[in-house]
Amino acid sequence: MKKIKVAVLGATGMVGQRFISLLEGHPFFELTDIAASERSAGKRYGDAASWYLESGMPESMQDRVVSEIDPKVIDADIVFSALPSDVAMDVEPAFARAGFTVASNASAYRDEADVPLLIPEINPEHLGLLEVQRRNRGWDGAIITNPNCTSIVLTLSLKPLYDSFGIDRLFVTSMQALSGAGYSGVSAMSIIDNVIPYIGGEEEKVESESHKILGSFDDGAIKDAEFKISASCNRVFTSDGHLESVFIDLSEKPSVDEVEDAFKSFGGLPQKLGLPTAPKPPIVLRSESDRPQPRFDRMAGAGMAISVGRVRKDSIFDIKYSVLGHNTIRGAAGASILNAELFAREKL
Ligand SMILES: NC(=O)c1ccc[n+]([C@@H]2O[C@H](COP(=O)([O-])OP(=O)(O)OC[C@H]3O[C@@H](n4cnc5c(N)ncnc54)[C@H](OP(=O)(O)O)[C@@H]3O)[C@@H](O)[C@H]2O)c1
Repeated sequence: MKKIKVAVLGATGMVGQRFISLLEGHPFFELTDIAASERSAGKRYGDAASWYLESGMPESMQDRVVSEIDPKVIDADIVFSALPSDVAMDVEPAFARAGFTVASNASAYRDEADVPLLIPEINPEHLGLLEVQRRNRGWDGAIITNPNCTSIVLTLSLKPLYDSFGIDRLFVTSMQALSGAGYSGVSAMSIIDNVIPYIGGEEEKVESESHKILGSFDDGAIKDAEFKISASCNRVFTSDGHLESVFIDLSEKPSVDEVEDAFKSFGGLPQKLGLPTAPKPPIVLRSESDRPQPRFDRMAGAGMAISVGRVRKDSIFDIKYSVLGHNTIRGAAGASILNAELFAREKL
């Protein structure tokens, strides 16, 4: 297969760096351009990016020159967007209008009725919205979004329960890593020896996105899934990996063993198609009483699998469990790449 040309917008940031690292040697995609703000444009990538990944900056990237974020100068078919939402609001439609397929991490277009909020294991059929989007907006290109990092981890764990037992209501509380706030998101003095029980807009995103992600695609539109959800989000002093405690009431009343079986046997279209970034299995079930933990479990499935553990009965809800996922891989760059792999494989 001839490789598809891809570019990363916001290539110097936390998510942008993950894209650079995950696209190295990718079998479908060739990274032909990188772009960031005017602070970075024109500089060597090695000078513009404060590299934070332990794997080190790929040698081939050091001397690449950072482009401006302008459809006229970007050489690619698919652009991965790791831009702040307010910037993405104008930039992403400009690229879609110019014929690029935008695979976006930003929240700017996630709620739009004709924009897929895609998790290929959960709702690959939502890609059918692209036809509606092109018709509505007259674009040659398209915008496909992936959900917020906390929503991705949560909904991947909800999908087998939703399909097997139905969901009535749930409560989730998150312990979210520092990298989720972006490179200069939370100052050291605010977070050392501390937990911050507030992440602006996060609880609203988790609550609304979950309904769209688990919704059905019918007659050119998404019908939201119906269940009650309440989220409480916290920033904690870990580098990568969001841990979430979930308390859930199911429509049917399965045993703990049946819930564990549903997690263990879960798989989706990316696994069937053997997409390069698809984790096998997508859900790792831990049996230890003190797992999952961010430091030990965030790299499960090369950072693309979520880990579930501590499945047990609850005295108020039916079941409770813990779930963990890597926020900049499964929750961001890896999610977008998996979306683009599905898009490419389905020849959309
Ligand atoms: N971090 C996560 O875990 C995570 C997870 C899911 C989704 N997201 C979303 O992904 C996006 C990127 O997040 P991040 O954590 O990577 O943020 P970040 O570390 O702050 O990086 C932001 C990137 O955008 C560029 N940028 C900033 N202002 C710009 C402007 N005015 N014009 C053009 N480029 C601009 C920056 O370039 P310069 O270096 O040149 O300033 C940098 O490359 C956000 O929308 C975020 O909500 C993040």
